[in-house]
Amino acid sequence: MLVLGVESSCDEMAAAVVRGRDVLSSVVHGQADVHAPYGGVVPELASRDHTRCVYTVAARALEEASVAPDQLDGVAVTAGPGLVGSLLVGLSFGKALAYRLGVPVVGVHHLIGHLVAAELEAPDLRPPYVGLVISGGHTALYRVAPQGAPQLLGQTRDDAVGEAFDKVAVLLGLPYPGGPAVSRAAEAGDPEAIAFPRPLAERAGFDFSYSGLKTAVALEVERRTPLAEADVADVAASFEAAATGVLVAKARAALASEGLGQLAVVGGVAANRRLRSEMARAACEDGFRVVFPPAALCTDNAAMIAAAGSRLLERGEAHGLDLNSFSRVPIGATPWTSPPGE
Ligand code: KG4
Ligand code: ZN
Repeated sequence: MLVLGVESSCDEMAAAVVRGRDVLSSVVHGQADVHAPYGGVVPELASRDHTRCVYTVAARALEEASVAPDQLDGVAVTAGPGLVGSLLVGLSFGKALAYRLGVPVVGVHHLIGHLVAAELEAPDLRPPYVGLVISGGHTALYRVAPQGAPQLLGQTRDDAVGEAFDKVAVLLGLPYPGGPAVSRAAEAGDPEAIAFPRPLAERAGFDFSYSGLKTAVALEVERRTPLAEADVADVAASFEAAATGVLVAKARAALASEGLGQLAVVGGVAANRRLRSEMARAACEDGFRVVFPPAALCTDNAAMIAAAGSRLLERGEAHGLDLNSFSRVPIGATPWTSPPGE
């Protein structure tokens, strides 16, 4: 089954063509230059830019896969969660294309897409496993079961971990997007220079909290201002150690309490090098398997959406043209036309 995926939940417009688990093309158009002057995503600017480039991005994905539109068997689009204005662009395009081609369209939950990215990387990874979803909007642990929706074990009570990286980058005067910039600055710093708090790390349960850590960084930055290059490096490294340390501790605890031996770490923050090496070390010590998608499949992309949608379509699940987009939606919610709470 040849499926075109379209993803536009935040500030990336992406399109990809997959055949089952084979990714034939994956095109991502980022907007870092659009949002850099503001230090964060401006929703209105994001959706306008999506409108400008959705057609070209999809056309490039088809061209790079050497697939003509009429060869497609279906279209998969991210239906939520995300910025509604952004989501609507990809969703409307996907529905229109499917209608024109006479093929089914299916809405995909963005976080299911992120989890499927791990299964694209490791085809032998089969549920049950623990999924750690860490991005600019989400920090959550799931038990991914062979059947049914992933079960939420815990999530952030305030900021997402990626959001904390982005805010710390602003505090340190580092360029947007913040995650990779903080990570680069951290390479020259001492991760033990400052003992930042690791909120909830030692507590039972699987909830996270990142706003206190962000405040601690703000206070430290204030104390050290004017910042020398070495200050920036040490604060970045110590923040990164605290932020990723909590993720490792909670993932370990979740695996132990669920009695599972496999962990998938997905979402933009899964691209973080320190997290990868610390988690790999924990995996060695505790004897669990950890799967990280390659960096290009960690951050937002459409290959994961196409692959997740392809599974739904293979099971005969498709949506009507009344498929809608939603800013917030539980991971198990279907159908997309009337999720609970909207
Ligand atoms: O999954 P994603 O592309 O979009 C969302 O669904 O949010 O994740 C974006 C987030 C941003 O907060 C970005 O700063 C963070 O992932 N990120 C990183 C790294 N690369 C991206 N955070 C830490 N280290 C990185 N190398
Ligand atoms: Zn994402």
